Amino acid sequence: MDKLVIEGGRTLSGSVRIHGAKNAALPILAACILTDGEVHLHNVPRLLDIEVMMSILNRLGCQARHEQEMIIVDTSSANSFHVPEDLMKQMRSSIFLMGPLLGRFGEVSIYQPGGCAIGERKIDLHLQGLRALGAVIEEKDQQILCKASKLVGADIHLDFPSVGATENIMMAATLAEGTTTITNAAREPEIQDLQNFLNQMGGSIIGAGTDTITIQGVKKLIPCTYEIIPDRIEAGTVMIAAAATRGNVTLTHCNPAHLTSLIHVLKRAGVQIGVCNDIMTVSCMSRPRAVERIVTSPYPSFPTDLQSQFMILLALSDGFSVMKETVFEGRFKHVNELTVMGADISIDLNCAFIRGVQRLYGATVEATDLRAGAALVIAGLAAQGKTIIEQVHHIDRGYDQIEVLFQKLGADIQRHTPVHKQLDLAN
Ligand code: EPZ
Repeated sequence: MDKLVIEGGRTLSGSVRIHGAKNAALPILAACILTDGEVHLHNVPRLLDIEVMMSILNRLGCQARHEQEMIIVDTSSANSFHVPEDLMKQMRSSIFLMGPLLGRFGEVSIYQPGGCAIGERKIDLHLQGLRALGAVIEEKDQQILCKASKLVGADIHLDFPSVGATENIMMAATLAEGTTTITNAAREPEIQDLQNFLNQMGGSIIGAGTDTITIQGVKKLIPCTYEIIPDRIEAGTVMIAAAATRGNVTLTHCNPAHLTSLIHVLKRAGVQIGVCNDIMTVSCMSRPRAVERIVTSPYPSFPTDLQSQFMILLALSDGFSVMKETVFEGRFKHVNELTVMGADISIDLNCAFIRGVQRLYGATVEATDLRAGAALVIAGLAAQGKTIIEQVHHIDRGYDQIEVLFQKLGADIQRHTPVHKQLDLAN
């Protein structure tokens, strides 16, 4: 297993280009199944999760391949609606394939995605939505068998604005007969990106970005060329790292409008933010100020995917802060590792109580999940001394060579690959 080795204490400076958004690219790759032909996608990041989704598409008979900086997905030879269990277990986001496969074949067999380190990750809202469109769903052991002789538009209300459920329903409804309305829909930018992609293929969807989305079913979708939006979570991670190391960093090819809540909280912490079109500058010349209370909740509120990263800034701030996590029940797994590095944090249910300390100290720590791992990278960059981060594969699921990203900003961060793996790669 790879490790990251960081010599901390350097301020970050310079400029980085933000990659395309993982959480936009995954549903859009799945949505390619709704059309019959060759889709060209630009600005797709090189990530483990993307590779798994491409492998699943290929196992379904499609041909998904990298071509220069593009990903080309030819779905004309798609011939299966069985999502393979081994790949499903590698990436629970495969659940996004239910809607497209139902829309394409009227049938899908998939496996329970199961929970993960950050929580139970239920899918009841996905299944409720697909049933409302006419799907007959049978859950047998770990398998989910789903059939729909015809998908018919319906009015669907989500008890919680689930991102994945909103996306699955949108994709299934695109080729349904009649009109579908989703109320209490998720409002994330990635939902808007999916709407724009589906409409570019001939779909008829309005309202993404609001809590009510209306999908007018169409007969057929035509393959298109599409560019994925910038990754707001990667951008936010870099912004927080710049502030935590008291650096001065420029981000290009990003979308500041997707980060309004983070920008607001960073400014409350005394961080200077500059915005000009798709460029942002972040600088923090003094110790960050404590922020009395931050609560994660669905977009456009403070994103759960930046909670663990922001906790590093609070751990180094000049006072006492409270971080409340309301989206996932298991998203504080980075706290134990941070206390090993000298942070003063206590947990009570879904609240973290953080008392700022002057500095963190390097240590050997373990990434437990994607964003907790990113938080440990930021902690290592800001800490005094050497930090070794193990289980780096969690981080590689969502960041395209995170060590290169921060090396470009002057960080002393190296990836150590075990010799046997180097030999495998060489052969
Ligand atoms: C998406 O996950 C993202 N993943 C997550 O990013 C992100 O944290 C999350 O949205 C919230 O913004 C992708 O887009 C690939 P949800 P998703 O359905 O769709 C409960 C990252 O770090 N729920 O909005 O799974 C669920 O248990 C990842 O990049 C139900 O109860 O999120 C959770 O508590 C992590 N029933 C909450 O809703 C359901 O049917 C949010 O889940 C579905 C969800």
